Amino acid sequence: MPVKIVIGTQWGDEGKGKVVDLLSETADVVARYQGGANAGHTVEIGDQRFILHLLPAGILRPNTVCIIGNGVVVDPAALLREIEIVRKEGIEIAGRLKISHNAHLIMPYHKKLDSLRERGTNKIGTTGRGIGPAYIDKAQRVGIRIVDLLDRDYLEERIRMNLKEKNRILAHIYQSEELDVESIIAEYQEFDRLIDPYVTDTSLYMNKAIREGKRILIEGAQGTLLDLDHGTYPYVTSSNPISGGACVGLGIPPTCIDEIVGVSKAYSTRVGEGPFPTEETGAIGEKLRKHGEEFGATTGRPRRCGWFDAFAMRYSTLINGCTSLALTKLDVLGSFDTIPVCVGYTCEGKSLKSFPTAVRVLEQVEPVYQTYPGWKCDISQITDWKDLPVEARQYVRTIADLVQTPVSLLSVGPKRQQTILVPEE
Ligand code: GDP
Ligand code: IMO
Ligand code: MG
Repeated sequence: MPVKIVIGTQWGDEGKGKVVDLLSETADVVARYQGGANAGHTVEIGDQRFILHLLPAGILRPNTVCIIGNGVVVDPAALLREIEIVRKEGIEIAGRLKISHNAHLIMPYHKKLDSLRERGTNKIGTTGRGIGPAYIDKAQRVGIRIVDLLDRDYLEERIRMNLKEKNRILAHIYQSEELDVESIIAEYQEFDRLIDPYVTDTSLYMNKAIREGKRILIEGAQGTLLDLDHGTYPYVTSSNPISGGACVGLGIPPTCIDEIVGVSKAYSTRVGEGPFPTEETGAIGEKLRKHGEEFGATTGRPRRCGWFDAFAMRYSTLINGCTSLALTKLDVLGSFDTIPVCVGYTCEGKSLKSFPTAVRVLEQVEPVYQTYPGWKCDISQITDWKDLPVEARQYVRTIADLVQTPVSLLSVGPKRQQTILVPEE
């Protein structure tokens, strides 16, 4: 392996949780590098279903060390709740979870500001987990970090300083109730005791592990088209989910990365607002949502659904440098007679050469489709490539050709065993 990054190539929810769980069988370390509890990574093991928000999916393997890197924004209450849930299932966390002392904290005012900003006209459709406001404070250099929990006086000073400004914004801009500074100080001072056992210099830990030849798996959250710099701005998240974000969010050098696995659904989905050229708003979208059970793992919102967008995927695999693709949810397409795939966009009658960055252009583009025959059967119990219907194999090979990246892994259901290794051509 030695260092492998798993990223989402679309708008999130591609099935990263399942893929990371599979690959973590042979990993010594699994690390998250960005985002926060906006993520919802589903892992199904036997009859158990885990939805992980902050804990890396490797936590479900007994001997894997899990890292929450400096680039993650940590909601301590959400983290402790998640640790409790996993513990109740008999999973031992002690000594296996390491949180960067440099990671920023989500504060109660971040969540409140996130939801208040969403009531305005420029709605993004966020998860309401305080992600944007926390990264704003990080960039504005007023954020509070995990390391600050260990110094009670400094923590109190920082909370008071922040609340002074945030309460004015709450009262005067949003006409909302102010937050009580004393109770926030008391709540966060208590987190010191609860989180301290996990806090460490994770960058040092990672670099040492890399030097020792440990097998490292890096788990992206969200997806490329939600990337703050490279996604469909402004309808994006506030971090860098692309593979390049991993080095910044973990404090490791780019030279150590060996493989980049792009996870992609065999169709497309998006949660929240923003352009989605291949979206199907009628019966087809409804059918994809129903068969794919497309409801948000974090917020329960229905996901918008549409066809596979090879044009957007070319862009995505390019900026991530994907060495291979893991194609998920192929089983969901089993009842369609024909399956369209978007191979390009036109705008005002002209074909576009590359994925547009201006949101107004992206809102207007018309997808150009090529249509492929469906296989019209249930493939969810097939485990061998050779046993797949020829149409399904053709669909996978076509996607690999269009995206110019080999598909190495195929998923035909949420469980570990519903996985097919794809032979090289
Ligand atoms: P993530 O955020 O990328 O980890 O993806 P989510 O967990 O939010 O959403 C993926 C959903 O699809 C979850 O409910 C998974 O259990 C499910 N899933 C993953 N792979 C497959 C698959 O191949 N087929 C089907 N039908 N469901 C899958
Ligand atoms: P995983 O890791 C899908 C979307 C939100 C919204 C936008 C900004 O499970 O793939 P935010 O709360 O981050 O400020 O919201 O990003 N979003 C996701 N969509 N999967 C996710 O994570 C997402 N995390 C954020 O719906 O459109
Ligand atoms: Mg998800």
